[in-house]
Amino acid sequence: MILKASMRSQVLPMPVVLISTVSKDGVRNAAPWGCIMPILRPLDEIAIASWLKRDTLDNIRDTGEFVVNVPTVDMEEAVEVCAKSFPPEVDEFEEANLVPRPSAKVEPPGIEGCVAWMECVFVEEILRERFSLIIGRVIHLEGNDAFFDDEGGMDFEKARPMSMILGPEGGIYTRPTSG
Ligand SMILES: Cc1cc2nc3c(=O)[nH]c(=O)nc-3n(C[C@H](O)[C@H](O)[C@H](O)COP(=O)(O)O)c2cc1C
Repeated sequence: MILKASMRSQVLPMPVVLISTVSKDGVRNAAPWGCIMPILRPLDEIAIASWLKRDTLDNIRDTGEFVVNVPTVDMEEAVEVCAKSFPPEVDEFEEANLVPRPSAKVEPPGIEGCVAWMECVFVEEILRERFSLIIGRVIHLEGNDAFFDDEGGMDFEKARPMSMILGPEGGIYTRPTSG
């Protein structure tokens, strides 16, 4: 079966994260993101791909900071609310009833109840005609104590971090499980 290149998400599950940022005017923002990847283990940089019309992109460019929150599959409703296109002056934490969690090293708050939080600073932008790749450095990584043992091992059946795969009728939320 030959598949169109654009159908790659059918064979390549993606993580779903919520990226939290704060605008230069202090407005809190949260947006779901699938196109995110670590840049080589065990380095500390990550890359995210962004369409150009995104408050998240504007906020990262303006402030140089963002938090990658890893939601549980139970947070689907909040993810769907944050996927809506709100104007930049709308506080998306309020819209989605997200509980802010003070970050250790950056201004944008994390989101309570998530599996883990990556506090990131802007490193580089690779701007293309229709999209942009942002490279960030993870300066603080913290896991939710409810899902991690004392050695930092995650119980992923309990944590149920959200992922996504493209089904016949669009994206389906899923979660990792043992093979
Ligand atoms: C599961 C999911 C994954 C998404 N992944 C991306 C992505 O990788 N890049 C992107 O630019 N938009 C992505 N979006 C769309 C944005 O989340 C959406 O346009 C959102 O309203 C952007 O918010 P903002 O303008 O506040 O940044 C995704 C949406 C969903 C529901």
